Amino acid sequence: MRILLTGATGFVGGRLRAPLAAAGHEVYCASRKPPPRDPSWRRFELDDESSIEAALEGCEAAFFLIHNLTGAQEGYGAREIAGAERFARAAAKRKLQRIVYLGGFEPPPEALSDHLRSRLAVGKALRDGPVPCLELRGSVIVGDGSASFRILRDLAARLPAMVLPAWLENRTEPVAIDDVISALVAALRVPLPASDWQDLPGPEALSGRQMLLRTAALLGVKPRTMPIPLLTPRLSARWLWLISGVDYRLACELVDGLKRDLFAQRRGFRALAGLPAPLPFDEAVRRALAEERQRAPRSPFGRAWEEVVRRVSPR
Ligand SMILES: NC(=O)c1ccc[n+]([C@@H]2O[C@H](COP(=O)([O-])OP(=O)(O)OC[C@H]3O[C@@H](n4cnc5c(N)ncnc54)[C@H](OP(=O)(O)O)[C@@H]3O)[C@@H](O)[C@H]2O)c1
Repeated sequence: MRILLTGATGFVGGRLRAPLAAAGHEVYCASRKPPPRDPSWRRFELDDESSIEAALEGCEAAFFLIHNLTGAQEGYGAREIAGAERFARAAAKRKLQRIVYLGGFEPPPEALSDHLRSRLAVGKALRDGPVPCLELRGSVIVGDGSASFRILRDLAARLPAMVLPAWLENRTEPVAIDDVISALVAALRVPLPASDWQDLPGPEALSGRQMLLRTAALLGVKPRTMPIPLLTPRLSARWLWLISGVDYRLACELVDGLKRDLFAQRRGFRALAGLPAPLPFDEAVRRALAEERQRAPRSPFGRAWEEVVRRVSPR
């Protein structure tokens, strides 16, 4: 198939291009700032319907992997929905056969954060459009470059001792980026008579505390921990921002997203698509850390600090 890969510069989209090409698809990457003079890239701005139509020209399917939390202003939810509706209309004009969207797990209504509400609304807008849309949903994706994994990794590597707020006891089903990528590739070939959604859980339900301590163990450290029930989500987010340097808004959304347990509801996609069982959490973390080591090193201060933590940590 001829595919438009939106979000091609992002964490997920950036890893999807090569496997799609390996599966025999012709891939056009889309970005607001594509590299100049590269015919495999197309310029694309979700706020501009004519640019969406132009980017989709000649395509039979599209991946919708757009996410703009960090640059988001007030009211980003409405803007995201409007963008998804524009995309669905443009896809119909270009007579696409399917859209594949990666969103997030649906929590109980009382635990919906703004971010998750918006991700779900984007999925609904795409699924309600004229072109069949398969929405796959994940929670924490474990991989080098994922914002949520970066927070986990930085907390684990940089704190010789940590307080554990109550929300870290909530559980979810983290999934390896490799398993998300294989599911996205398979999403093009499963039968899709009408729009549908499926979850992509990892094989274990783990609390935030378990994910932190298991990541720490794989980094060779053992932080001392102390439960502290009264740390508010806002303070927690400041703490995440301070230690890992991720965008503060993103840190707030991640904490809000774990206000309650966050579990998959539909678990059948891997079997339906003939995919193997998902990787265990520890293996997903090992792969993410190995990739991180091959990348350009972090700041000298960050590295020096992590080395100190490793040396003072009990074995
Ligand atoms: N990362 C996770 O842990 C995780 C977990 C569950 C679900 N997901 C879902 O996976 C999807 C991809 O997430 P990600 O982590 O890969 O995101 P990301 O790394 O933040 O990438 C976001 C992409 O969106 C594009 N984009 C943003 N605003 C745009 C606009 N106005 N017009 C066109 N493109 C725009 C960016 O492209 P340019 O800047 O090049 O234009 C970028 O490539 C999202 O739907 C997210 O909800 C991610």
